Amino acid sequence: MMVREPLFDGHGRRISDLRVSVTDRCNFRCQYCMPADGLPWLDREEILRFEEIERVVRLLAEMGVTDLRLTGGEPLVRREFPRLVAMLAAIPGIEDLSLTTNAYLLERDADALVEAGITRVNVSIDSLQRDRFFQLTRRDSLPRVLRGLEAIARHPEVRPIKVNAVALRGFTEEEALPFAEFARSTSYQVRFIEFMPLDGDRAWSRDQVLTGREIREIIDRVHPLEERPREPHATARVFRFKDGRGEIGFINPVSEPFCADCNRIRLTADGKLRTCLFSLHETDLRTPLRAGASDEELETILRNAVWRKELKHHVGERGFRQPPRSMSAIGG
Ligand code: GTP
Ligand code: 5AD
Ligand code: SF4
Repeated sequence: MMVREPLFDGHGRRISDLRVSVTDRCNFRCQYCMPADGLPWLDREEILRFEEIERVVRLLAEMGVTDLRLTGGEPLVRREFPRLVAMLAAIPGIEDLSLTTNAYLLERDADALVEAGITRVNVSIDSLQRDRFFQLTRRDSLPRVLRGLEAIARHPEVRPIKVNAVALRGFTEEEALPFAEFARSTSYQVRFIEFMPLDGDRAWSRDQVLTGREIREIIDRVHPLEERPREPHATARVFRFKDGRGEIGFINPVSEPFCADCNRIRLTADGKLRTCLFSLHETDLRTPLRAGASDEELETILRNAVWRKELKHHVGERGFRQPPRSMSAIGG
């Protein structure tokens, strides 16, 4: 494998984690992400081809990116997605190849994805009650999603499996204990994510954020928790139940930002590099890719973009501006 200089940003953080959005489309319409009527989708030619994604990932792997997460929109709606996974799994240097999905199509694809080389899967589930799941995702699909989750869990080599629930005030309080029971009776690590201002409706407000701490207190009263040491660059604070039965995590980007040791960059489905979830500026890679740029030219573009990576987000501060793209178009 070709080895290039490691990739650093201007704040001294080494970048080793890439999240690739493979499509902006999604088959759900979660309240905190997309408007009920969807969004205007990208045209087919705007979307990076598999070979183009592979080239960017290979270059970044040569610069020390070892962790690759595939997201969307909903990644499984991209045609021939398992073939892309196999192409990326073959890139030298990629050690962790993970997927974030709503699991609607996971029963169909689980075997093919594992065969292709997926090593970890995170599944988004916001409620364990069918009607409330419907209310939040605008799709009556909880049973099908749970079947998808079970299909991937049948592969013991895919571990850990995490379940992500976005926490909304006035909704998720009631989900805390059911999810705690779920985490205690299965091998899944359940994580609550604070609602971030990346929703398609632009309706986010600070008072809708149910903090990780509040949920933790609800759970801790019934099932005492004990914090585990934080892994470097982790998004979540992870707790175990004191009686040893399972784990639960809290992703608190709003109340406890974890930008200081952020090692992540993102590639959107249309080939823009984003150095932060909240970036207001993107770097176009598709144009040089299609204009025949050399690896060295692309490397320079990547390094310059990463060098300017944002120090931190400014959610909740005066003057904060929500990025033009919503979560579904950025890629989680
Ligand atoms: P693991 O490697 O399994 O811990 O995955 P992850 O937490 O990085 O990925 P996942 O796709 O499951 O994301 C869970 C939540 O964390 C999503 O809401 C993400 O948007 C959020 N998240 C991931 N990375 C960042 C980040 O760099 N900044 C912020 N603010 N949120 C992030
Ligand atoms: N705030 C927090 N998390 C969000 N997600 C989507 N939109 C938001 C938001 N506005 C979550 C999804 C998925 C992960 C990739 O991002 O539920 O679990
Ligand atoms: Fe990294 Fe930006 Fe997320 Fe902070 S908000 S952790 S800098 S991507």
